[in-house]
Amino acid sequence: MTQPQKIDNIDKARLPKHIAIIMDGNGRWAQQQGKDRLFGHFHGVESVRSVTEGAAELGVNCLTLYAFSTENWDRPENEVNGLMELLIKTIHGEVPTLNKNNIRLFTIGDTSMLPKEVRGELQLALDKTAQNDGLKLILALSYSSHWEITAAVKNIAEEVQSGKIAIEQISDKVVADHMSTAGFPTLELMIRTGGEHRVSNFLLYQLAYAELYFTDIQWPAYRKEDLFDAIIDFQKRERRFGKTSEQVQSR
Ligand code: IPE
Ligand code: IPE
Ligand code: MG
Repeated sequence: MTQPQKIDNIDKARLPKHIAIIMDGNGRWAQQQGKDRLFGHFHGVESVRSVTEGAAELGVNCLTLYAFSTENWDRPENEVNGLMELLIKTIHGEVPTLNKNNIRLFTIGDTSMLPKEVRGELQLALDKTAQNDGLKLILALSYSSHWEITAAVKNIAEEVQSGKIAIEQISDKVVADHMSTAGFPTLELMIRTGGEHRVSNFLLYQLAYAELYFTDIQWPAYRKEDLFDAIIDFQKRERRFGKTSEQVQSR
């Protein structure tokens, strides 16, 4: 008899439509083994592969991965350079696998800050996966919510100034439509690995009613089975959106 798999405990009809992951703990994972922080980042790529494959296998609509924050630019130069080199190699190398699994790549963040080579590989990968209609994989690169919200405010102000919209027309929907995640499903589950209980400038606007899940597992040790655990936990929660439990249950 085959062993029951964790994936079988997931109700495929009630998957979170959009999952975001703060991939944290690479440096500590490496340092605990007496290795350089970059060793952790390098091994984190295997976790990205496993988790992306798991999400695609399940039929998750959208997965956003926090790969590099605006604040991460302030890390030591050798770490930033190492991460940029890793990005170039990984993005380049993963395109065939993305295509094999029908995954379409997207990116959010201030990508104009990225080195030319990273931007080049990224653009190629975006173009080469553009025809895929399976999992939407969004890489957050040089991203922070403060950057995103400031950019949205500027864009809306410009539209008001040019007469495209009136101030009275600025609604919740208009604001949401100016966020980087416009057009993607509502964020329903946010996972942070590495043991910290904070959000670190990630998807602050989108987190409004997302379920939060924190795990001590460090990113390089994280695998798709751990993602399945988070989804199983998500499916046990009662999401009330401000209503009472009775109201939610009588629906
Ligand atoms: C997350 O791991 C990866 C990036 C921020 C690029 P860290 O590098 O933050 O690892 P820790 O948190 O220091 O262990
Ligand atoms: C958040 O992790 C950014 C990414 C995972 C890319 P950090 O390690 O930068 O966050 P803090 O500094 O612990 O808040
Ligand atoms: Mg960290």
